[in-house]
Amino acid sequence: MAVTEVVVVGSCMTDLVSLTTRLPKAGETIHGHRFFTGFGGKGANQCIQAARLGAKTSMICKVGKDSFGKDYIENFKKNGITTGQNFIVIVAGANLLLSSDDLKRAAHVISEAKVMVCQLEVTPAISLEALKIAHTSGVKTLFNPAPALADLDPQFYTHSDIICCNESEAEILTGIAVGNAEDAGRVGLILLERGCKTAIVTLGPDGCVMVSTKEPVPKHVPAKKVTAVDTTGAGDSFVGALAYYLAYYPSLPLEEILMKSNFIASISVQATGTQASYPYRKDLPQELF
Ligand SMILES: Nc1ncnc2c1ncn2[C@@H]1O[C@H](COP(=O)(O)OP(=O)(O)OP(=O)(O)O)[C@@H](O)[C@H]1O
Ligand SMILES: *[C@@H]1O[C@H](CO)[C@@H](O)[C@H](O)[C@H]1NC(C)=O
Repeated sequence: MAVTEVVVVGSCMTDLVSLTTRLPKAGETIHGHRFFTGFGGKGANQCIQAARLGAKTSMICKVGKDSFGKDYIENFKKNGITTGQNFIVIVAGANLLLSSDDLKRAAHVISEAKVMVCQLEVTPAISLEALKIAHTSGVKTLFNPAPALADLDPQFYTHSDIICCNESEAEILTGIAVGNAEDAGRVGLILLERGCKTAIVTLGPDGCVMVSTKEPVPKHVPAKKVTAVDTTGAGDSFVGALAYYLAYYPSLPLEEILMKSNFIASISVQATGTQASYPYRKDLPQELF
């Protein structure tokens, strides 16, 4: 069996999407002009982006014993499209049933990986337990605190080698509104004080800001200018790419890893859909590898 290099502990979601010209009022029924399903969930998205770059990946997640769960497993690589104004209702369902026993059964996969990635779309205690298993086994931990929680257990920071969040998550975690790279640098320094070794704040079209205990002066890593058509899932593409580079190019300077991750995520915003917009290694410039 192939050895896992990037392991993701996280969520799988099936998106059910209706396109309408406007939103219905309370109690009103309106016609939609399209309906489709798509595959999402931050954990699965990040895992798929890492896999498309060539990483040997394992996904530790829980799906329901229904047609959605079956389809997710059977069609892990099928993709959905979302555009425009939307109402999102998340029924976390089986994701919240991922248990400590499940993790213990998968502990060998975590402890043999190079990088372990997790988010907050499963029960936070499970994400923390995954971080601890990985961290104590010497596996690099990449924590994406999404969706963000204001009162995060302090141990999330001390067991994370790298924390990567976006502007709104940065504000929920630290109370600092992020409008530019300088604000992002201030957030990064606070996250370092809380105990992680590296903090990355993504800034949409402006790329990201990095700061680490090794390089304690925040550095802005800009993204290439592109015409964005659908930014859904850009953050997950970025995190998936970051996990890939951390696992396969551990000695590359972080700034260079982030330039490459920016580039990959910037490709994902130039096509519609979440996983549907994530690039494959074969379609990317060879200099990225
Ligand atoms: N308009 C854009 N042009 C170029 N790159 C972009 C653009 N938007 C996002 N990116 C890339 O994607 C990364 C993540 O974007 P962002 O900070 O918006 O994350 P996010 O808010 O979690 O994404 P989303 O919620 O849309 O999935 C950025 O750091 C950048 O590399
Ligand atoms: C950051 O990610 C969250 C999901 O955790 C999303 O709801 C939010 O819109 C994103 N913020 C920005 C500024 O893109």
